[in-house]
Amino acid sequence: MKCYLVGGAVRDELLGLEPRERDWVVVGATEEEMLARGFRRLDLAFPVFLHPQTGDEYALARRERKVGPGYKGFVVETGPGVTLEEDLARRDLRVNAIARDRAGRLIDPYGGLDDLDRRLLRHITPAFTEDPVRLLRAARFSAKLGPWGFRIADSTLDLMKDMARAEELGSVYPERLRLELAKALDTDQPWRFFEALHRCGALEPLLPSLAAAWRQGGDRDMQALRRLLAAGGGSAERFALVMRDADEPVRAALAPDRKAHELATWLRLWPAARVAAADGGELLALIEGLRLTRAPERVAALGRLWSAEAPDSDAVARLQAALAAFHGVRAQDLAGTGLRGPALGRALRERRLAAIRRSLKVAA
Ligand code: CTP
Repeated sequence: MKCYLVGGAVRDELLGLEPRERDWVVVGATEEEMLARGFRRLDLAFPVFLHPQTGDEYALARRERKVGPGYKGFVVETGPGVTLEEDLARRDLRVNAIARDRAGRLIDPYGGLDDLDRRLLRHITPAFTEDPVRLLRAARFSAKLGPWGFRIADSTLDLMKDMARAEELGSVYPERLRLELAKALDTDQPWRFFEALHRCGALEPLLPSLAAAWRQGGDRDMQALRRLLAAGGGSAERFALVMRDADEPVRAALAPDRKAHELATWLRLWPAARVAAADGGELLALIEGLRLTRAPERVAALGRLWSAEAPDSDAVARLQAALAAFHGVRAQDLAGTGLRGPALGRALRERRLAAIRRSLKVAA
């Protein structure tokens, strides 16, 4: 049996990037041989194994054979007779279909090295369209590799346009969209992901709230995303910015984690424009509702989001002034009044509200 390093690991190594994980293809072996060598079978539809020491994934080479029209019209075959070339042929992009053997020799039957040189993201065969996740992957690689000058080939963009029109795209599992979105948002130029989706017409079926924003304000959200990254906004903030206007179930289903979901919900409730126009009572409700006095990191995150959304807005300054006014009124200031319990709480709140109102007059 022979093992070859394949996929993203070879691509990333050739570009001088640290590979995220190492996937191997095994040619000329059976499942029994793999188990006899100590590999552990993963619970997947295809024979994929974990290396007993390194934990890398080793998949038996497989080929796809067309047996009918459309998305599900093919069977997957695996066995010692399947060649490396057949396994590479079923992959999405040429740059993802280069293999390296244990001696370091590169095997490149589909021109992946040439595409790496030319900085092209190009499909291997029209079978690209048979897996809707590949559209997301091409868009994501354009974000990940954009800083290296990569762009999606025109012929591949044409296929993506066909895919965007097909009904299948609406049936991408939310889980796959969530994963690809999270990976895209973690790149250095995440706006390229959304721009690619927009260009091929997939933004509307996949992320309709973002498509609607695009129709109204052009690429305003993408400019905001650029500003957010420049200000150091991390993945939760990036998610909050682009998903703030999505319906709540969509926001919940696509959020990478609880923090990102919360932040997106808060931004939806408290956009920069609302904070900029808020009166004292509303600012107090914001401070109390989001427990901002005890969570400086939330204040910082919202500040970055508002500055990204509306760079000319004074939302950040108003919240800072309101917070300072809030902190300026302390329980011991009311020590002489004899108030206790809930009455003390009410009085404290009244004074804080008055202080916030005064701060707004000063700022105005
Ligand atoms: N692949 C594919 N079609 C898919 C998913 C994966 O052809 N829908 C192939 C590609 O050859 C890819 C390899 O499987 O390179 C491994 O996939 P994966 O580990 O998910 O992605 P990588 O390309 O390794 O990229 P990254 O690690 O950055 O996600």
